[in-house]
Amino acid sequence: MANPHTALLKLTSIFIFIASAPKLGGSSKTFTLVNYCKETIWPGVTRSDNHSGDGFTLKSGQSTVYTAPDGWSGRIWARTGCNFDSGGNGKCQTGGCGSSMNCSGPGNPPATSADFSLGEIDYYDVSLVNGFNLPIVVKAMNGTGNCSTVGCDGDLRQNCPSELASKDSDKVIGCRSACDVFNTDEYCCRGTYGNPATCLPSNYSKIFKQVCPAAYSFALDDPTSLITCSKADFVVIFCGSRNQTTCSYHDKQVACNRSKGYKAIPQSCGTSAIFYHGMGPAVAKKRGKRALGGEATL
Ligand SMILES: *[C@@H]1O[C@H](CO)[C@@H](O)[C@H](O)[C@H]1NC(C)=O
Ligand SMILES: *[C@@H]1O[C@H](CO)[C@@H](O)[C@H](O)[C@H]1NC(C)=O
Ligand SMILES: *[C@@H]1O[C@H](CO)[C@@H](O)[C@H](O)[C@H]1NC(C)=O
Ligand SMILES: *[C@@H]1O[C@H](CO)[C@@H](O)[C@H](O)[C@H]1NC(C)=O
Ligand SMILES: *[C@@H]1O[C@H](CO)[C@@H](O)[C@H](O)[C@H]1NC(C)=O
Ligand SMILES: *[C@@H]1O[C@H](CO)[C@@H](O)[C@H](O)[C@H]1NC(C)=O
Ligand SMILES: *[C@@H]1O[C@H](CO)[C@@H](O)[C@H](O)[C@H]1NC(C)=O
Repeated sequence: MANPHTALLKLTSIFIFIASAPKLGGSSKTFTLVNYCKETIWPGVTRSDNHSGDGFTLKSGQSTVYTAPDGWSGRIWARTGCNFDSGGNGKCQTGGCGSSMNCSGPGNPPATSADFSLGEIDYYDVSLVNGFNLPIVVKAMNGTGNCSTVGCDGDLRQNCPSELASKDSDKVIGCRSACDVFNTDEYCCRGTYGNPATCLPSNYSKIFKQVCPAAYSFALDDPTSLITCSKADFVVIFCGSRNQTTCSYHDKQVACNRSKGYKAIPQSCGTSAIFYHGMGPAVAKKRGKRALGGEATL
């Protein structure tokens, strides 16, 4: 049945206009961050080559533009349930990254992340390798190349196996990865399981994949979730779903629209992940880091 959030979104077609930052002759890239969650979130941003980062408040229904420098590589995620004092110090229920509003490192698991590596060709993905705290969708606008929309179709907090659930009182606030909870070589793709031929999807990662089909569900998941695209503007949508959130340009501003709830995700897990033998590490190596596969540190 529809939860209150879904019901609300069904009643109200939310339509957001975003003042996009001026294009600075290709020397920077704009990310439009949209919050379709019913609650306030605190997006966190880190860069792979620098432990400093950014962070800010984004209320329900609001959006903002984050401008990244040329060649930026890094991660965008959401913190939830935060309490910051007037000096910008505090903590969060999920995705916390130190005590400051500005992140000094990646978010604590469980946290869904959107990972980017920008260059001539931009690489991007959504990763659940460090768990899930809310649905993320990444859309590439007006790019050339594959540029497909990645991320989630539903909210894993509603389907999280109880042994992985991260709770506040009785409310599920996140879904931890099997690697995080059980810490075995098999779930963490270590030791004899440290390559794509031996580290196979688990009953847990399959549940993750079902809710977020175009995302990394475990460290050596099939690399088709890593998308390449050129010359795009990116939209990172929190609590949207791939098909049911649309974005378009209106007078050089990005407008996003979400009028429906999530697709119903069946409880059974019948998804079989496609597996491309040997490609995971090759991609990781080519990219110079495993972050896009979802390592905890950038
Ligand atoms: C790291 O970030 C700080 C603050 O944004 C900046 O002053 C510094 O130049 C950056 N260092 C590198 C290597 O990008
Ligand atoms: C966060 O960083 C911005 C600039 O990057 C700075 O203006 C702001 O004061 C910082 N906020 C906190 C709470 O450190
Ligand atoms: C994006 O592409 C559409 C269709 O090709 C075009 O009409 C529109 O002007 C483009 N918008 C921007 C901001 O480049
Ligand atoms: C996953 O598999 C493990 C070990 O085979 C089992 O203990 C666990 O109950 C299974 N969990 C689910 C959600 O199927
Ligand atoms: C883009 O890549 C994804 C994942 O590899 C694939 O499923 C999809 O069909 C591709 N789309 C296009 C338009 O080539
Ligand atoms: C999303 O839309 C595409 C084409 O409109 C369709 O083929 C696909 O099945 C839809 N996916 C979901 C999860 O609804
Ligand atoms: C947004 O949704 C409404 C209602 O479903 C629809 O009429 C409108 O055309 C949509 N706008 C965009 C930009 O998709």
